[in-house]
Amino acid sequence: MNIVIMGPKGAGKSTVGQRFAERAGLPWLETDRLIEDLDACRRGGERRSCRDIFRTDGEQVFRELEKEAAARATETDYTIIITGGGLMMDPESRSRLRGNALLVWIDADDAVLWARVTRGGLPPWLEGPDGAARFAAQCAHRREVLRPFADIVLYAEDRDPDALAAELEELVSRELSLRQGSPNTWGDIIRVTTFGESHGPAIGAVLDGIRPGVPISEEDIQRELDRRRPGQSKVVTQRRESDTVRILSGIYEGKTTGAPIAMVIFNEDQRSRNYDNLKDLFRPGHGDFTFYAKYGHRDHRGGGRQSGRETACRVAAGAVAMKMLRAMGVSIVGHAIEVAGIRAKRFVREFIEQNPVRCADPDVAPLMEQAILDARSDRDSVGGIIQLEIEGLPPGLGDPVFAKLDARLASAIMTIGAIKAVEIGDGFAITRMRGSEANDPMKNGRFVSNHHGGILGGISSGAPVILRAAVKPTASIAKKQRTIDLNGDNVDVEVLGRHDPCIVPRAVPVIEHMTALVLLDAMEIQARLNPQWAEQYHYPPEF
Ligand SMILES: Cc1cc2nc3c(=O)[nH]c(=O)nc-3n(C[C@H](O)[C@H](O)[C@H](O)COP(=O)(O)O)c2cc1C
Repeated sequence: MNIVIMGPKGAGKSTVGQRFAERAGLPWLETDRLIEDLDACRRGGERRSCRDIFRTDGEQVFRELEKEAAARATETDYTIIITGGGLMMDPESRSRLRGNALLVWIDADDAVLWARVTRGGLPPWLEGPDGAARFAAQCAHRREVLRPFADIVLYAEDRDPDALAAELEELVSRELSLRQGSPNTWGDIIRVTTFGESHGPAIGAVLDGIRPGVPISEEDIQRELDRRRPGQSKVVTQRRESDTVRILSGIYEGKTTGAPIAMVIFNEDQRSRNYDNLKDLFRPGHGDFTFYAKYGHRDHRGGGRQSGRETACRVAAGAVAMKMLRAMGVSIVGHAIEVAGIRAKRFVREFIEQNPVRCADPDVAPLMEQAILDARSDRDSVGGIIQLEIEGLPPGLGDPVFAKLDARLASAIMTIGAIKAVEIGDGFAITRMRGSEANDPMKNGRFVSNHHGGILGGISSGAPVILRAAVKPTASIAKKQRTIDLNGDNVDVEVLGRHDPCIVPRAVPVIEHMTALVLLDAMEIQARLNPQWAEQYHYPPEF
C-alpha cells in the first residue's frame, strides 16, 4: 500500500511529503522527478526539468511521460508518492495510482498557490494573458475532480511544513487504523461478523461470501450448535440455553442465494444479578481489566463480548463452511488430547462424541472427567489441549507470505477466548529433532511421515493437517482471589455464577468451525488465483 500525496501546484506537496516520509521512516518519490528521469534516459542521460520538457516537446509528449511515470510509481509499495494534479487528472494514471493507496490532498488558498508557483518565474503553461485567472480556474477544476477521491484533506496555507507533516502523520495513522476493518468482522472472501453480548437479548452472525446454491437448513446449523451448547453435561457450565438458531436471510427454498446469511440466537437464561459484585472490580485472568483500560466503559454482565458465548456465532457461521468442506471430502475432527495434564494415548474416532470431555481415548476420558469435577469441587478450574485432525484437504491452500495457511489458522484460532498457543504438526517438539528426523521424505507421490503437519511454506501439502490449541484454565473461579476495584483499591473476589470448570469440551466444536471458515476462505482465494486448481479439486463442490 502506498500513500499518494496530490494537490495543486504550490500547495507544498514536496516539502510536506518529504518531511512526513522522514517522520514515518518511509521512502518517497516524486512523479515529476520520475518524469525527468525517464526523459533523461531517452536522451542518453541529458537532464531537463519538467518545465523544459513541456516547453520544448509540447504537452502531448509530457502527458505520455506522465503516464509512464504513473506506471513506474505503482511498482512500489509502502512508499510516499508525491504527484502533481496533472498526472492524477488522467483517468488511467489515477486508477493505477489509487490502487489500494491512501490518497492525501494538500491544498492552499489561490493567492498562496499563485505566489509560490510564480516565485521562480511563470511556468510555460501559464504564460500569456490572464495567467493568474487561468491558474485559479485550473486549481478549481482539479479540486472539483480530485478532492473527492482523497481520504485525507490537509490545508497547508502558510503553515510550518514540520507542523503539517506531524498533522499528516496523525491523520494517516488514524485512517490506517480505521482501515484495519472492524475487529468484529473476520475473513477475506468468506466474511463473518458476529454480534451480541452474553447478557444482551441475542447473539448472532452475518456470514457473507457464500456462493449461491449450497443447501443449508436450520437443522444443519443446530446440530453443530448443540455440540457447543451450555448445560450439556456435568463438566460444563450449567447455564440453560437452548441455543436455538434462526436464519433470517440468505436462504431461499433451502439453498443459499449468495446474499448475506444472518443468523440469530436469542439468549434465554441470563442471570445478570450474579455479576453485580463484579461491576466495579476486575476478575483475575479475565479480560475485565484490559477491556476497561481500553474502552473505559464495559458490559460486565457475563463478560459481555469477551464471554465464551460469542463463540456460538462462529459455530453457526462455520457450520455453513463445514457443509461445503464435507461435500469436498474434507473432514475436521477435534478432540481433547490433554486435560489437567492427563494425556490421551489412543485415538478412537467414534468415541469422541460419546464422552463429555470429547477425548478419543476410552481409557483416559474418565480420568479427565474426574479431574474436571475435582477442580469444580475445589472451586477451581483446569485447562487442556485440543487436537484437530484435518483430512482430505487438497494441496495448494494458503497464500505466502502474509496469508500463509498456518499463519491464518493460528490467527483465527487465537481469536477464541482462552486459547493461549497453537502448534502445527510436531510444533514445539520439532525443535528437539535433527533435520534428518524432522524432514518428511516423499515416496510414490506421498509423504512417508507427517512431522510438518500438512503445511509447508505456508501452503497445504495434501498430508493431514494436524493442529493443537492450548486452552487455559477458566478464569472465573469461585475460589477467593485478590484483585483491585475501579479505584485501584485491593479487594478479594469470589466469582460466582455459572462457569465452565474446563473450557476444552465446548471449545472443540468452536475450533473446528473457526478452522472450517479459514479453509473455505483459503479455497475461495485459491479458486480465483488458479482456476485449474479449482477444476482439479472440484471446487466449488456440487450438491
Ligand atoms: C466455549 C468457551 C466457553 C468459555 N466459558 C468461560 C466461562 O464459563 N468462564 C470464563 O471465565 N471464561 C470462559 N471462557 C473464556 C473467556 O472467554 C476468556 O478467557 C476471556 O475472554 C479472556 O480472554 P483470554 O483468556 O483469551 O485472555 C470461555 C471460552 C470459550 C471458547
